[in-house]
Amino acid sequence: MRVEFSPPDITEEEIEAVAAVLRSGWITTGERVAELEAALTAYTGAAGTVCLSSGTAALEMALRLLGIGPGDEVITTAYTYSATAAAICHVGARPVLCDLPAEGYLLTAEMIEPLLTTRTRAVIPVDFAGICCDYRAIKTLLWQKYRMFTPQNPVQEAIGRVAIIADAAHSLGACRDGVMSGALADFTCLSFHAVKNLTTAEGGAICWRNIAGADHSWIERQIRLLSLHGQTRTAREKLAGGWEYDIVMPGYKCNMTDCAAALGLVQLRRYPELLARRRAICRQYDTLLDGLSLELPGHILSGQNASACHLYPVYLPGCTEVRRGVLMEALSGSGVMANVHYKPLPMLTAYRALGYSPDSFPNAYRRYAGELTLPLHSRMNEAEVAYTVMQFTDIATQMGLLPPRHRPRPGPPSFLEGEEDDD
Ligand SMILES: Cc1ncc(COP(=O)(O)O)c(C=O)c1O
Repeated sequence: MRVEFSPPDITEEEIEAVAAVLRSGWITTGERVAELEAALTAYTGAAGTVCLSSGTAALEMALRLLGIGPGDEVITTAYTYSATAAAICHVGARPVLCDLPAEGYLLTAEMIEPLLTTRTRAVIPVDFAGICCDYRAIKTLLWQKYRMFTPQNPVQEAIGRVAIIADAAHSLGACRDGVMSGALADFTCLSFHAVKNLTTAEGGAICWRNIAGADHSWIERQIRLLSLHGQTRTAREKLAGGWEYDIVMPGYKCNMTDCAAALGLVQLRRYPELLARRRAICRQYDTLLDGLSLELPGHILSGQNASACHLYPVYLPGCTEVRRGVLMEALSGSGVMANVHYKPLPMLTAYRALGYSPDSFPNAYRRYAGELTLPLHSRMNEAEVAYTVMQFTDIATQMGLLPPRHRPRPGPPSFLEGEEDDD
């Protein structure tokens, strides 16, 4: 059996929707993008949404909208993909990396507090694996410290404290304290990259919450200007109302196409079903791996703090990088494609060059060394989950990473339910 790590879940409906755009004569930013933006706003409960070409672009545009640049500091976690910190570098600000807490994968208010300075302009928590950070606690901390903060542009002024930009590349559909990802932070950046829960092949979006005192139509207009050369009329508007336009700033170019949005609209319509499947897989993993001496991701599958179940990371306490590598190779040999999330940023050349050293991030390093991400995608069936668990536990036990014990009984896949179990 071969179990893929995270292939896209594309049906004939997505293919038809993209084909219809290709046949329509309008393939770049237009009606489909506007529809997807409205649908995402309704789904997340955000005040507004602008779709862009990637999650990285969404992070960068949020920082630019906030006027963040050289001389400013932005706090984020060392335990993330490079995109989170790279966007901070792109605007010329300094990424201030935070170690993980002793437990778990998420940035916490306690870990952020000692890193705050009068130059801190934003914090970017990352909703790792689909689990939302505790935005309420982070917001409370930043309000407590508001005297350290001097706003430098009208959006910062309306927020009144250090801004929170959620890196929600993993968390579409998740919630915290009953609030959906998209409406939790001041700005929320989604990714629709090929491996994400909802894909447009490449794509992203920036959502914002209702910020009292901010002019929401100005925010929307500003993001559109930033992402399309600072041009006052889009290609579609030019077609409808004359060619003439102005360029009000030398802007960037990261708009979404209608082809991508058509794919995203079908994925969003299917999303409740895709999310339910992911949650069922996590439930099956949780059941099969229960009682072993390893740490499970802790996905909450329903209610006020439900996870989007994007990744299924398991943590083997005491495992080393080398042994984890051997385990992954053996798993791959048995047809199970696992992965690692993440190599902490201070271990990577670009962030070492910024002066970071892995030695200053012991929790992130320890977690990385013992972490392995099992396959999780909405096309995965129960037999594949059971096979993955069987291979993983057998190999880890043989390697001494799990104590010998009676192999957890995967139990029959549900399609065999009711049949005799004869061993
Ligand atoms: C945590 C995180 N942040 C940001 C991104 C960037 O998203 P994109 O690839 O859409 O630019 C990713 C994508 O892998 C991610 O996993």
